[in-house]
Amino acid sequence: MSSLFYLNKYLVRYKWRLILGTIFIICSNVFFVQQPGLIRDAINEIEDFIANVDPQATSNILKQGLWLSGLYTLLSILKGIFLFFTRQTIIIMSRFIEYDLKNEIYDQYQRLTFNFYKKNATGDLMNRISEDVTKVRMYLGPGIMYTINLFVLFSLVLYKMLSRNAELTLYVLTPLPIMSLLIYFVSRVINKKSEKVQAQQSLLSTIVQETFSGIRVVKSHVKEESVSAKFEKEADLYKKNSMNLALTNAFFMPTIILLIGISTILTIYMGGLQANNGTIDPGEIAEFVVYVNMLTWPFASVGWVTSIVQRAAASQKRINEFLEVDPDINPNHDAEQEIHFDQDIRLNQVSLTYENSGVTALKNIDFNIKKGETIGIIGKTGSGKSTLAYLIMRLLDPSNGNITVDNKRLDELNLDAWRAYMGYVPQEHFLFSDSILNNILFGTKEDVSFERVQEVAKNAGIHDSIMNFPEQYETRLGERGINLSGGQKQRLSIARALIKTPDILVLDDCLSAVDNETEELILQSIKSELRSKTTLIISHRISSLKYADRIIVMDDGRLVEHGNHEELMSLKGIYFDTYKRQELQTDQNK
Ligand SMILES: Nc1ncnc2c1ncn2[C@@H]1O[C@H](COP(=O)(O)OP(=O)(O)OP(=O)(O)O)[C@@H](O)[C@H]1O
Ligand SMILES: [Mg+2]
Repeated sequence: MSSLFYLNKYLVRYKWRLILGTIFIICSNVFFVQQPGLIRDAINEIEDFIANVDPQATSNILKQGLWLSGLYTLLSILKGIFLFFTRQTIIIMSRFIEYDLKNEIYDQYQRLTFNFYKKNATGDLMNRISEDVTKVRMYLGPGIMYTINLFVLFSLVLYKMLSRNAELTLYVLTPLPIMSLLIYFVSRVINKKSEKVQAQQSLLSTIVQETFSGIRVVKSHVKEESVSAKFEKEADLYKKNSMNLALTNAFFMPTIILLIGISTILTIYMGGLQANNGTIDPGEIAEFVVYVNMLTWPFASVGWVTSIVQRAAASQKRINEFLEVDPDINPNHDAEQEIHFDQDIRLNQVSLTYENSGVTALKNIDFNIKKGETIGIIGKTGSGKSTLAYLIMRLLDPSNGNITVDNKRLDELNLDAWRAYMGYVPQEHFLFSDSILNNILFGTKEDVSFERVQEVAKNAGIHDSIMNFPEQYETRLGERGINLSGGQKQRLSIARALIKTPDILVLDDCLSAVDNETEELILQSIKSELRSKTTLIISHRISSLKYADRIIVMDDGRLVEHGNHEELMSLKGIYFDTYKRQELQTDQNK
């Protein structure tokens, strides 16, 4: 429950809506509880009318009847109007808070780092901001509204009943403790069962989501039937759980109605005895019966409201877990906006261990990148090349050692300025479901001309392909750019990195899916585009590194060889072997 306290700051922010809403609830119920009194009067009038047969009375009773029913209608209308205002204030308040909370979570997601995203599944992150927030809103809207309503209505009805007939009130309320206990127990069972239903439902959506994302894999392995069978099995369990829940629900409402019925019978019986003694009018019995029935719905909804609150508490707890995470990379937003890079970037005995897997991906790396140099990085898969790029981009901070830029520690620089200074083409490129133009422009904050976009696209070797698409630069890419080939996606990612004319460019294996000729073309234009810029090219292929001034060879997280092409060849080590092997392959392909 305490997790919901987090929302109090929002309730304070919208306190006027809440206070006004409460006043409207009181108004609406004040009119509501006047109605049974009118029914009592009407019945008493009829009683009198039947008792003394006076010809004069006929027109009187008609007038009286019209007056009472007019009043009754008026009260209903007033009650309805205030109910409308209640919803307009409290439910709308819940929508405002939902909006604020979603923004707060989203901002937090933007602050959090690479490590956080490696640890948490996308589906989970999505659920926080959609389903969990929805559950919290149910508490803020209907949850709060019905709770206030119950208290207000119950107090008013109790006051009305006590002031009319204290003894009868006692009889009427006898079944109440039993009802409360019943509601408590049954709603616990219902909650447990509905949790099961919900868990099963998220399992189902995970299966569906994965199948859709991996539909090509599913189809190419002819796994449609087994995937369907799995879905059917889980769907069947979902059905069973839901039916089980429906059974409990079906039992709940009739029981409440039974208890209310008992209460009504008690009222009529005890009231009847009192009426026989002449202590009360028959109208009063009817009035009490109406009071009892007025309480039916608010009481029956107690279980529902508790479950709303419990679910909201669980959801808010999960949301809080995320909101409390501090980004593990300090962005130094107060540091200087300008980056000074005139000499070199140094890696001083840098090591990195991934927290989640415990893998030490980099071990005591020690080297420097001079300004204006092109550095090639080569090594087997898993040797730590991408990890090195993450460190230089500062997507991660080293576990040991440090990185300096012109003798100033990288982790003391302004992070946004540093990233804006760099161009990075990640190994796992990602394209948005948007036009090609916007995908390229994503790389820059500045306004750039269309000519510049085309120029960059030409340098990345993608312009001609784009011009062949039906809508050229306005062509929309499907989810994850599904209508582009692997090589086209890579080149589009390169264009995105080039558009901001970065001072440092990091290319992580982004030429693996293009043929040798295109590779040569792209490398040349990058070289001419970024003449004096610092470039880091990570690759498996030696051919990609032909323009590198220096090459480092990685193996199992260590820097094992270092030098230019000739120096490395003369070492006759890993680089030499790789060169020979790749040369052989090229020859075979010719
Ligand atoms: N996010 C991560 N969490 C845990 N371990 C990781 C993570 N990323 C990489 N690793 C591990 O770190 C090691 C180095 O990975 P890295 O991606 O840097 O290799 P790489 O040289 O870029 O390989 P490739 O050539 O296949 O891209 C690997 O053993 C890998 O399993
Ligand atoms: Mg890699």
